[in-house]
Amino acid sequence: MPTNISLLKIKIRSLIDIINNHNYLYHTLDNPDISDTEYDALYLKLKEYEKKYPNLIFNDSPTQRVGSKLLGGFNKVKHQIPMLSLSNASNDKDFDEFYIKIKKDLKLKNITLFAEPKFDGLAISVIYKNGVYDSAVTRGDGEIGEDVTANVKTIKSLPLKLTGTDIPKTLILRAEIYMTIADFNKLNDKLSRNNEKIFANPRNVAAGTIRQLDPSVSSERNLRIFFHGVIETFTMLDKNHMDSLDRLKSYGLPICELNKLVKNLGSAKDYYNHIISTRDSLDYEIDGVVYKINNYDYRNQLGFTAKAPRWAIAYKFISAEAITTLTNVTFQVGRTGVVTPVAELAPVNIGGVLVSRASLHNMDEISRKDIRVNDKVYVKRAGDVIPEIDRVSLEHRKKSVKIAIPSKCPACGTKIIKTIDQSSYKCPNEYSCSPQVIQSIQHFASRKAMNISGLGESLIETLVNKKIIKNYSDLYTLSISSLITLNRMGAKSSENVIESINKSKDISFDRFLYALGIREVGITTARILANNFSDIDMLMNHNKIQLEEIKDIGPVVGDNIYNFFKLPRNKKNIANLIGHGINIFYAKKNITRDFHNFKFVISGVFKSFKRKEIEDKIIQKGGSVSNTVSKNTHALIMGVNPGSKYQKCLDLNIKIIEEGEFIKLL
Ligand code: IVH
Repeated sequence: MPTNISLLKIKIRSLIDIINNHNYLYHTLDNPDISDTEYDALYLKLKEYEKKYPNLIFNDSPTQRVGSKLLGGFNKVKHQIPMLSLSNASNDKDFDEFYIKIKKDLKLKNITLFAEPKFDGLAISVIYKNGVYDSAVTRGDGEIGEDVTANVKTIKSLPLKLTGTDIPKTLILRAEIYMTIADFNKLNDKLSRNNEKIFANPRNVAAGTIRQLDPSVSSERNLRIFFHGVIETFTMLDKNHMDSLDRLKSYGLPICELNKLVKNLGSAKDYYNHIISTRDSLDYEIDGVVYKINNYDYRNQLGFTAKAPRWAIAYKFISAEAITTLTNVTFQVGRTGVVTPVAELAPVNIGGVLVSRASLHNMDEISRKDIRVNDKVYVKRAGDVIPEIDRVSLEHRKKSVKIAIPSKCPACGTKIIKTIDQSSYKCPNEYSCSPQVIQSIQHFASRKAMNISGLGESLIETLVNKKIIKNYSDLYTLSISSLITLNRMGAKSSENVIESINKSKDISFDRFLYALGIREVGITTARILANNFSDIDMLMNHNKIQLEEIKDIGPVVGDNIYNFFKLPRNKKNIANLIGHGINIFYAKKNITRDFHNFKFVISGVFKSFKRKEIEDKIIQKGGSVSNTVSKNTHALIMGVNPGSKYQKCLDLNIKIIEEGEFIKLL
């Protein structure tokens, strides 16, 4: 270790910045660029330094996230600016009235609103001072809240120090703390395994956790946060809300990607419908849409009532539950063969939607809730992803039948087995069980993989069921004439599919590997493989030791990769793909550390660089930068929120280099 104190200080400081940046990549962008082991090594190194030099512990050190237990409860704090609530609209008429009134009051023909999901979590006020996390206070009664600084500090996507420029001295922000539905289900599963009381919904977990006196509890619970507002002292820097949120994003604060500027009443309603249709696929709960006037001058003109701003409204979803009969339980087979139970219900109207199926997750969930066929069950759509059975009405129980996992696969009849981790059941017939085959082809064609458009689930289903194709490599044997005869396929759509299939033949190594659908090999692992093997032949002929040497690949995934390439069927498929003209391009050969003769396009917001700095670095290394993506572009240097250039690069099969990778290339 260096002994000179100022040198040490610089070392520790830079180690903290590096770790915090990895935290940001992992927790905010969901796009880590190092393995957990590498992260742990950095973290341990920092801990070692801090143990040896306790007077060099910085406030924003990641080791300082979990503080000690609070004795005597939370302190009450008066909000500098009260935390108000929002007026509500519960139908189109209410919303129209709001829109007409603000237009009239501002004497405008049209007004631009900023639309955001209404997160169903816990409201919080967060303060940064000189760019460093200072404190967090709950809403309380709006005037006085509780100081929950220590618990909020454990939220890993909350930056302890802001990055970027133009950071005001004091920054008072509004945010919502939440838990993802996946984490919520995991937590409840664990609680029920230990015979402990489970939580009713993710919001209750977030609220309950933030009020725990021991910060190690909130640290374990993996809470998350979305920032949705900056309060008046800060608006000086920006003219409107959208610019403020962009600014917060550039500071490294998590902002919801679904936010959108809507320029008139029609677009505002389109957004509402879009959010309703997206809601089921979100991994967090929302209970409406919040519309806010974007322009701060207009906001100031309208001001506040005693309770809420006049310039915003929450248009809440109708949330409801209904009771119905569970008529049957069927079993679905997923891409990896996992068999999951699905509830078949007597159709029932819940909040305007007719529901006839609900998710049952897994067999444990069925036994935990003691759900049986013929039971009357309460079904909920109140912010849940897909309709879900909340509970059984036991007083109605008559002649109910217990649910058992079938012994054979419902699709192909093969004997079902337990998964290796014993958590669920699967059909092992991965190459001939039709739902598995269909979904593996769907995965192969998906956007992040081969990006073949026009190949929807029903077309693939028809092709497989009619035995026109047996696996993904057969896609390249299709012709316009083989498609045109199929139901609902015209000349134009057949032509488009074939064109897209042909276009997919030029593919980068990482996406090709991802497309193969090797168990547990997501795009990140596929990239690691692509960076460690010079070509597909080398990977196909690797031995176990070569994989073990790659430190980012653990033993289980390593076994999956090894077994995949050992199987003659997979070897044959890959050979067929190459025989059909798949042309894999290899990043290592393409882009070298010397950028001479390489043309780049830059898009998105970057954490460690300004755009100009990236341009300079490329030029210094002999490359050039263009503003438009074309066939001649070699790679896209991509930051957060890259916009349409990203899609264009996917379409043209142009290499995408994310910020972390770019730093490595430098
Ligand atoms: S803006 C003046 N934006 O809804 C109040 N609030 O019913 C400005 N909420 O306490 C609030 N998502 O906790 C705003 N995108 C969003 C929100 C949001 C959820 C909560 C917030 C507030 C409550 C008001």
